[in-house]
Amino acid sequence: MQSHEKGYFTEANSVDVVTGRNASAKDERLKEVMEVITRKLHEAVKELEPTQDEWMQAILFLTRTGQMCNEWRQEFILLSDVLGVSMLVDAINNRKPSGASESTVLGPFHVADAPELPMGANICLDSKGEDMVIEGRILDTEGKPIANAVIDVWQANDEGFYDVQQKGIQPDFNLRGVFKTGSDGHYWFRAVKPKYYPIPDDGPVGQLLGNLGRHPYRPAHLHYIVSADGFETLTTHIFDPDDPYIHSDAVFGVKESLLAKFNKVNDPARAKSYEFADGFWDVTHNFVLARRKD
Ligand code: BEZ
Ligand code: FE
Repeated sequence: MQSHEKGYFTEANSVDVVTGRNASAKDERLKEVMEVITRKLHEAVKELEPTQDEWMQAILFLTRTGQMCNEWRQEFILLSDVLGVSMLVDAINNRKPSGASESTVLGPFHVADAPELPMGANICLDSKGEDMVIEGRILDTEGKPIANAVIDVWQANDEGFYDVQQKGIQPDFNLRGVFKTGSDGHYWFRAVKPKYYPIPDDGPVGQLLGNLGRHPYRPAHLHYIVSADGFETLTTHIFDPDDPYIHSDAVFGVKESLLAKFNKVNDPARAKSYEFADGFWDVTHNFVLARRKD
């Protein structure tokens, strides 16, 4: 027996026997990852003492999760989302200096090639929903405006669907756009008030939520990716604080600093200037980018 071989497997020595076998791992990080995962997994099994049938149920759940994945659907990411792991990885990798805007999950509905639009454009292409105007500034942590910042936005419509979920019903690139700031760092665009929506819940993850007595809803939000030369790219949302699901987001994406105020405005002159028929929603939110360290 070599020094890393720890003898025959027993309930008591299970972690040492398994991790000892990885002594010649080609990648130190992989070895570390598998050491921690093996230790935590064995700990969980020892605490839970699953029956053979329960363990098979767990295996079949993961099997169904894999079988649900295709080019458009990533059920494992959804699982990571509802377990809070996506937000934890995001938090660990996006520790920001004080004053910088906070990040949150990307989600599965970003489209890489959304059109670049002139500032003020209306990203709602089918005139459905309650009109909304959104504006703000892209700033550095000293409060100075950032010129040439690129703002990639996307949102669900007034029924809680993204364009990519309703191909042939919504126009392509509905409620998406890319905007570039001028020297004042200001951005603005027109859209419609988004609605809460369920994460895709027709698969094993949705079933798990149901069995846990959890709902699948995300509170109404707009997604942003804000990037600029010399700054860390910010992937984030703004949320409607009055949404019924604001305290129970299915994927834990809400942060206090990402709550924007959605103000209802009844001002015919302003409405006319935006080419809105009537009352509209007005949202102002600034984003502060952290300078890149290198
Ligand atoms: C989203 O906000 O688009 C989203 C995020 C996580 C899971 C599903 C959807
Ligand atoms: Fe979303």
